[in-house]
Amino acid sequence: MPYNLTNKTILITGANSGIGKAAAIQLARLGADVVMACRNSERGLKAMQDVIALTGSNKVDLLPMDLSSQASIRDAIDQFNDRHQQLDVLIHNAATFDHTLKRPVLTADGVEMVFATNHLGPFLLTHLLLDTLKANAPSRIITVASKGLMTYPFLDIEFDNLNGEHKFDMQYAYYHSKQAQVMFTFDLAERLKGSGVIVNCVRVGNVAIPDERLGHLPVWLLKVYAMKRKFAMTPEKMAETYVWLAAEPSIQNLTGGYFDAPNVPVKANKNAYNRETWKRLWDVSAKLIKE
Ligand SMILES: NC(=O)c1ccc[n+]([C@@H]2O[C@H](COP(=O)([O-])OP(=O)(O)OC[C@H]3O[C@@H](n4cnc5c(N)ncnc54)[C@H](OP(=O)(O)O)[C@@H]3O)[C@@H](O)[C@H]2O)c1
Repeated sequence: MPYNLTNKTILITGANSGIGKAAAIQLARLGADVVMACRNSERGLKAMQDVIALTGSNKVDLLPMDLSSQASIRDAIDQFNDRHQQLDVLIHNAATFDHTLKRPVLTADGVEMVFATNHLGPFLLTHLLLDTLKANAPSRIITVASKGLMTYPFLDIEFDNLNGEHKFDMQYAYYHSKQAQVMFTFDLAERLKGSGVIVNCVRVGNVAIPDERLGHLPVWLLKVYAMKRKFAMTPEKMAETYVWLAAEPSIQNLTGGYFDAPNVPVKANKNAYNRETWKRLWDVSAKLIKE
């Protein structure tokens, strides 16, 4: 990837692990100022030290940010604004997928944890950084969904069950939150047309998850992950599509796209293109972030 990202500032969430960390390394190698937004200071610091050691970059910053907490996101962006003058690319990589969650857990903001972390957090973060991204146009936003959405062809936003009031299943809640991210991407891309800010979504497939992140799982699930890993892509390979969306000059006018690795445009399920749902989701999300 022969991109030169010198003088570009890129913020990536969940940068201490997996695809996020691999992308941070690749972006730092290309010369970008990389801001690693991580919820756990210890894991974040260790990852930042790894990125610096592997790339030799002195332009790596660590930003504490828990995407399930609106106060934490707001605080992180205050810190970001104190330390950085610009933002060229925002990558919403972090997400929660906790198999052990058997019932809905509400965050301090009163929002179900999975929806709060995987959809509402990115929604608020985008909102807080949008003026900076516009001021730095041409600039880019990258969201992250899942190829597993293909197994839910009729999935739609359940406005009467956002907090798992009627039913809750972790896997379903995860895909529901990812479907919300896909719709948010398409909607935001439309809203930002002409602003110089492009918005695209990556559909991540089966990517290997490091063993140390799976230790808490029951034996049967460890076996499932071991089986999945035989067919998995490496985080490094997947991260190349993040980097392409962040850096490829020929796509500066391409917005509202949805991409598999390696850089292949794909279609979302039919409901993801419903503009009435986009608007309803936007309005509900705006209300939940109290803006
Ligand atoms: N791996 C796959 O097969 C696969 C498939 C489909 C989609 N995806 C998507 O790809 C993206 C990256 O996943 P990955 O495979 O790299 O997984 P990963 O190694 O588990 O990384 C997830 C990252 O998200 C962070 N995170 C979780 N909750 C957070 C919160 N409340 N606030 C801030 N950060 C939080 C984690 O931080 P901690 O270290 O603090 O937990 C970690 O850095 C995610 O959006 C995921 O949904 C992955």
